[in-house]
Amino acid sequence: MELMTPIEADVPADLALQVSQRLKSAVKGHLLQAFAPDHTKSMRLISAPEAAELLNASPPFIRKCHNDGTLPEPSINRNGRRYYSVSELWEYRQLLDKQARVPGKYLPWRRDGESLQVWQLMNFKGGCSKTTATAHIAHYLALHGFRVLLIDLDPQGSLTGMCGLDPQTEFGSKTIYDAITVNDPCPMEKVIRPTFLPGLFLAPAQLILSEFKMEARATGNFHTRLRDAIAQVQGQFDVVLIDSPPELDILTLTGMAAATSLLVPLTPSMMDLSSTALFMELVSSYMKVITEHGAELHYDHFRFLVTRDEPTDGPSQQLVGFLRTLFTDMVMSATSFKSTAVSDATMLKQSIYELDRADVTRSTYDRARVSMDAVGAEIREMIESTWRREKA
Ligand SMILES: Nc1ncnc2c1ncn2[C@@H]1O[C@H](COP(=O)(O)OP(=O)(O)OP(=O)(O)O)[C@@H](O)[C@H]1O
Ligand SMILES: [Mg+2]
Repeated sequence: MELMTPIEADVPADLALQVSQRLKSAVKGHLLQAFAPDHTKSMRLISAPEAAELLNASPPFIRKCHNDGTLPEPSINRNGRRYYSVSELWEYRQLLDKQARVPGKYLPWRRDGESLQVWQLMNFKGGCSKTTATAHIAHYLALHGFRVLLIDLDPQGSLTGMCGLDPQTEFGSKTIYDAITVNDPCPMEKVIRPTFLPGLFLAPAQLILSEFKMEARATGNFHTRLRDAIAQVQGQFDVVLIDSPPELDILTLTGMAAATSLLVPLTPSMMDLSSTALFMELVSSYMKVITEHGAELHYDHFRFLVTRDEPTDGPSQQLVGFLRTLFTDMVMSATSFKSTAVSDATMLKQSIYELDRADVTRSTYDRARVSMDAVGAEIREMIESTWRREKA
């Protein structure tokens, strides 16, 4: 990249504005390149072994289903190998489930009496991987057949960005602010949009979401806003994942009042551990505030998720051990490993699930993928235990 001319400005405000404008257009250019040719996100093709794993079946069984006509052939067949689009997998799952002896073997959707699971990821510590973890868990669940709604509750809109929308430009649809504002809110249905993954939907955020904090303070009306918005669409989803801002503000409280489980991501560093103590103290007092406003709080699960874990780094492992000693099973067994595959992917606003294994060093990809899969699988287990389903 060529060096640009130095930024010159007479007053600091002009300098800041020029920096912002230069950055905005550079980031836009970078992403446009990444999402060429049509500038929208799309999902890679899935190989036959990965497709079988996602469908909860064995590769020979899937081959047999193609041969006997239970499943149509995928549109891509290169050198005798089948490759699947995520839409084809979504369609196959329904076809397989229709003829399965035990309904639900292939289709994990909610059944009668199973309530919507709303997980909020929260920590006031910036950069502890809230958004990255939210996106990876969502991709894992959607690729395994769940109907997932992502709610971006951070005015920075990072999760919105990871879904392929630029939170800083108009994208022609409503945002979560429109659904929760106290001034003439719009139906949640109008806010939700499909993403590049079948089964995964997004309620996006833009900076205007910050306005909600003022409204909520002025009216004292915050704890029911998101809960009621989610209730409007609850029949369409199995799981809702809420990403929160790096603050314990009214937006985070609004999420806490809507959530049925809480997940606190934290990195294994002494600084994060100390700030988590303060965070939990504040969480406790804010929970009291929410309860005083008349909301009943009940969480099926309250867990810590260790993120950017380095299993070969002694000091960080000591901290993870320390955390497990203190809080035993409140700390998830699976951790999200620190990986250049993940940080490189998030640079392009992607998750590891979007990367083609062939485009990354295989051992790096596999290590990151195994760790993210383990996190997703453990969340899935917790969700299914709330529904009192037998282990698969
Ligand atoms: N497992 C991982 N391995 C390597 N890098 C990671 C991993 N998880 C997150 N990161 C990197 O850490 C940075 C912060 O992650 P992320 O944006 O998800 O944190 P956050 O808690 O949502 O931040 P904020 O508080 O600003 O909302 C990102 O640059 C991301 O690429
Ligand atoms: Mg974030």
